[in-house]
Amino acid sequence: MKIAQISDLHVVAEGKTLGVAPMAENLEKVVAHINGLGPDMVLVSGDIADTGALAEVQRAASILAKLEAPFYVVPGNHDTREALQQGMPAAVLPAREAGHLSYAVELPDMRILALDSSDPDAPNGRICEARAGWLAKELAVSAKPALIVMHHPPLKFAVDETDRPPLEGARLLADIVAQHSQIERILCGHIHLFAQALWQGCLVCTAPSIGMRLNWSPHSLAASSFLVSQPAYLWHMLNEDGELITHMFSLDDPEGPFAFT
Ligand SMILES: [Fe+2]
Repeated sequence: MKIAQISDLHVVAEGKTLGVAPMAENLEKVVAHINGLGPDMVLVSGDIADTGALAEVQRAASILAKLEAPFYVVPGNHDTREALQQGMPAAVLPAREAGHLSYAVELPDMRILALDSSDPDAPNGRICEARAGWLAKELAVSAKPALIVMHHPPLKFAVDETDRPPLEGARLLADIVAQHSQIERILCGHIHLFAQALWQGCLVCTAPSIGMRLNWSPHSLAASSFLVSQPAYLWHMLNEDGELITHMFSLDDPEGPFAFT
């Protein structure tokens, strides 16, 4: 099983620009790169649109449609549920719950649990009783290895703007995660950086943005700016021993390759 994870696309409508970051063009490049590697699936961990407008979702959908592998999306704080449901094909957002866009995808050796952490009143996300209940129910159905994909990380990554306030209802999620060892990863976005932490016995990975890298430093937690970067994304796959490994691809332009000897 090979899964590419892209995040924080922040696509704007045709003819508009997002300052200096060419996000739609970056998405085109990432889609071509992913197609060259041939994953089994692509996960898009939120902030597909920049303002949440339908035209942005439609533009992102038209680019994502070029992916050769099946893909799935979850909402981020820059998305609106209504526009996502309207602008994305039903197959990439097969949510049927009332009040949130969570859903499960069954694979031969794994389950994807797409958990909607978005909330119009909570930019840093919210897990409510209904969503926690949905997740607990899905995990009770099968002990098959599961990946949770959600936009907002459930713990603080020393990023002021996403730590304060932290994810609402994180305690509800923590209790569920601590009780289910089949959760292999919690895959997030939101902080526009690749970061990892062990949380409740499970590895949380955040994916980088495809071009807006958070201007982060351990010494300036209040920084709220981004750097225009080359697109980057994560690659999750089972190794030959059945262990899930994660790599990051950056579409920068290094010299090489050179032999180590
Ligand atoms: Fe974002």
